[in-house]
Amino acid sequence: MNDATRAATSVGAAKGSPSQPSARLAIQGRNLAVRLCVLLKTARVHDVGNAAFQGPLAGFIDTIDQMWTAEGDFKILSVGEFLYVNQHRLKVDASSYPSYQYLIDEFRARGLGGFAFTGKLTPPEVKKFVRLFLDVDTKAAEPFDEFSTSLTKLSVERIVPLRTVVPVVGQVGSEEVRDSRKVAKRTFYRAIESARTVMLSARDRRPIDLRKAKRAVQGIVDLILEEEFSVLGLTALKNHDEYTFQHCVNVSILAIALGQRLGLPKRLLGDLGVAAILHDLGKAAVPSWVLNKSGRLDTDEWNVMNDHPIQGVKMIAKMRGLNELALRSMIVAFQHHLNYDKSGYPRLEGCEDQCLFSRIVAVVDCFDAMTAHRAYRRHAFTPYESLHMMITENVEKFDPIILKAFIHTVGMYPAGTVVLLDTNEIGIVVEPSPHDIFRPKVKLLRDRERRPVEGGVVDLNARDEKNGAYVASVVSALNPEEYDINVAEALS
Ligand SMILES: [Fe+2]
Ligand SMILES: [Fe+2]
Repeated sequence: MNDATRAATSVGAAKGSPSQPSARLAIQGRNLAVRLCVLLKTARVHDVGNAAFQGPLAGFIDTIDQMWTAEGDFKILSVGEFLYVNQHRLKVDASSYPSYQYLIDEFRARGLGGFAFTGKLTPPEVKKFVRLFLDVDTKAAEPFDEFSTSLTKLSVERIVPLRTVVPVVGQVGSEEVRDSRKVAKRTFYRAIESARTVMLSARDRRPIDLRKAKRAVQGIVDLILEEEFSVLGLTALKNHDEYTFQHCVNVSILAIALGQRLGLPKRLLGDLGVAAILHDLGKAAVPSWVLNKSGRLDTDEWNVMNDHPIQGVKMIAKMRGLNELALRSMIVAFQHHLNYDKSGYPRLEGCEDQCLFSRIVAVVDCFDAMTAHRAYRRHAFTPYESLHMMITENVEKFDPIILKAFIHTVGMYPAGTVVLLDTNEIGIVVEPSPHDIFRPKVKLLRDRERRPVEGGVVDLNARDEKNGAYVASVVSALNPEEYDINVAEALS
């Protein structure tokens, strides 16, 4: 691939050296962002003199103390759709996303890029800072100037406001400026929030409100119908802590995309997405020590685990306003571990056949479960290994037409697969191609000399303008561990 072609085909520029955030800064940066968010949100509800504000205040001051002791002066910055602490980009996951997005939105409304912290803070100056921050007239022509001047007047000197940083192509955050990708990410994390709410309601035997889940699913359906397949890439971002919720959302996203491939109309895609998000609802009845057990389950534990399809049916049956969607969801919850070859569970005479939705969910459920890190096995399978096991040794378990459509949905090298290109570069698949199962979009991680690079995304469907040849092709899938590649970091 020549450089001119690369520039033309890259979604973001491949440039710069890797900036692996130190573990300490990653943890402290996350703490800082979350605590600043809590501080501001609390102050929206309670006056800064209120007792309810004192906990968040102490937590924030403590975090600044620790960071300043370790780093000296430091700053938190919003660039594009990411937060940075000094030069280190904070990794987004489902639990940190709402806090990060809150800060990014609040900073943006005030024309702020972020803040520099130039010393340890006292409670009075943090209180002044918070009051001023919330009082800024965000409709003013120059909210930044108003805020900055007020801070100086009140002698808040160790919190220094910084102007908005505009991302430049080739620099940090530039690849995420595209609005559609931003929407995909937001939709994804909102869906995880909805799945969490539904599962926790089921666990605590509270009434389940499906409205949020339905809205979240509709957002996913819209993205898929707009061919915004970057949302499929997000399903490869596995988070240990959020596994149960994220799994439900991944299954929903993959099921909707597969349903679209199969030609289902929009209304049915919505129903399929909701049924998919609820497929493991019954796991809310399984004790967490069984779900997370690292050793083999004994017979009693297996019985509890294998009962989750029936528990799911019972939970959905208790929902208010039983309708066609609820009935479909019950059927999927019951049948998703039955197999096409009539193996699987739960065994119930006369109920061995799966409906279409269940056959779809069974395929994507298996794929997502295989690619996740679980306590009971040392390594997750790579997406490439998982797909190949499904189409070889496990092929009889799945409806062959649906399995074939699934390959066309995620591609032969599904998102999250580390690949060697014929340019001798190494990259990670971030998005399948709707046109060619062998030509996904690949984010470059290593150059021809195997030196780390960051950021450039190459569409393998692109051709060289001069000779019409593809700019690059996949040679093989690689084991990320052999190349010291952290998949989660590479995808985030
Ligand atoms: Fe399940
Ligand atoms: Fe599942």
